[in-house]
Amino acid sequence: MSTDRLLIREWELGDAEEALQVYGADEVAHWLTPEWRPVNDTDAMRSVLHAWIESGPNLMPPAGRWAITRREDGQLVGGLSVKLLPPFEEDFELTWALRPDVWGQGYATEASRAITGWAFKQGIEEIFAVARPDNERAIAVARRLGMEWVGETEKYYDMTLQVFRLRPG
Ligand SMILES: CC(C)(COP(=O)(O)OP(=O)(O)OC[C@H]1O[C@@H](n2cnc3c(N)ncnc32)[C@H](O)[C@@H]1OP(=O)(O)O)[C@@H](O)C(=O)NCCC(=O)NCCS
Repeated sequence: MSTDRLLIREWELGDAEEALQVYGADEVAHWLTPEWRPVNDTDAMRSVLHAWIESGPNLMPPAGRWAITRREDGQLVGGLSVKLLPPFEEDFELTWALRPDVWGQGYATEASRAITGWAFKQGIEEIFAVARPDNERAIAVARRLGMEWVGETEKYYDMTLQVFRLRPG
């Protein structure tokens, strides 16, 4: 899937080094879900990618995990996922992570528009994003995407989260 500036594609094991610059960055890891274990080196990142790649075919679309690369220079700038929110696994959640040095250029918004457009074509009628109340950048992405604020809840991940929802159209 491509957008003006980005390519959204499946992960590859060869992405480990560049993916580490995304998921190994403290500024990113700090905001990931509580079960995320810190990834400190390329081998650890490769193991994570291996698990993501292996589990991919078992996920029910629109669930999935994708790498975001920049078309201009092929650099990997981040990752996106659509996954079922625990514990009930009824609602789909959109998550983003960008390499800190590319924050502030609209890549998360641009990639999310493409993936949510595709997700709605798979038959779902809503997609959620959850963010800790102090995750200002994530909340700003949700708002920029036109997501509606639904409320604050503790039902996901045992933490207080702001919930946003997007519907087609
Ligand atoms: C959440 C995260 C992906 C947001 O990244 P981001 O770069 O701030 O978000 P966007 O890609 O939408 O970029 C928006 C910024 O780019 C600017 N921008 C520039 N060109 C733009 C364009 N063409 N379109 C939209 N925005 C653009 C916007 O004005 C905005 O700038 P600001 O931050 O100075 O207000 C990033 O902070 C991150 O990886 N955080 C850690 C992980 C995380 O918290 N994930 C969410 C929970 S799962």
